[in-house]
Amino acid sequence: MEVVIVPTPEATGRLVADVVEGYVRAGGTLGLATGSSPEPAYDELVRRHRETGLDFSGCRAFLLDEYVGLPGDHPQAYRQVIRRVLADRVGLVDVRGPDGTAADLAAEATAYEESVRAAGGVDIQLVGIGSDGHLGFNEPGSSLGSRTRVKTLTERTRRDNARFFGSLEAVPHHVLTQGLGTIGAARHVVLVATGAGKAEAVADAVEGPVSAFCPASVLQLHPHVTVVVDEAAAGRLRLADYYRFAHEHKPDWQGY
Ligand code: F6R
Repeated sequence: MEVVIVPTPEATGRLVADVVEGYVRAGGTLGLATGSSPEPAYDELVRRHRETGLDFSGCRAFLLDEYVGLPGDHPQAYRQVIRRVLADRVGLVDVRGPDGTAADLAAEATAYEESVRAAGGVDIQLVGIGSDGHLGFNEPGSSLGSRTRVKTLTERTRRDNARFFGSLEAVPHHVLTQGLGTIGAARHVVLVATGAGKAEAVADAVEGPVSAFCPASVLQLHPHVTVVVDEAAAGRLRLADYYRFAHEHKPDWQGY
């Protein structure tokens, strides 16, 4: 893993946008996360689209996850969120996500998994991390080899996400989420985390044992992962000074 520590959330946005821009220019397949962590990166990509003409028309995108039971036009449905924060602002038209309103959710999960595969897989997958270590909505205890399926959110995740819904009661209990195996099949994974509330999860994911207890730790097994964190989210990393040094002295090419 390459761990890059930057001063602020805005700086994570610039760095993540630098990475994503190369894939956009190549007309790559983008894997998009929702939530607040990638928003500085999406804002920066929108700025580059407007000011430098960064062209998304050759890209397609897949969402990580979706709430079960929220109507497709609900403002917190992830397909609506991603349209608002990125897709409609940059002319990204081909955006697919799992359908959380499907009558047969198991069949929808299988079909979504197949649609990612049929598209040739994901070139760059953006992910946030839950304060409980979840990746996508793969909560603690998720199979490290899992594929798209229905999961039940933990109380902690529902509390974390209540800020988007106005009340805890309004947060759905169930989601359709790409599995950890699905996410791990992306060719490059970029994890972005900001704020002290993520510091423990980031340290567990990067420096803890690979364990279903911290699902994001599965990224340690992936050949190409970039972890972009602000100082607050880096607060519990034991090797923070080493990561800073390694990034500053990075040769033209180095392995991860
Ligand atoms: C969202 C997702 C989640 C979030 C995570 C962090 O599509 O899959 O894993 O990335 O819950 O959310 P924020 O960024 O809002 O703290």
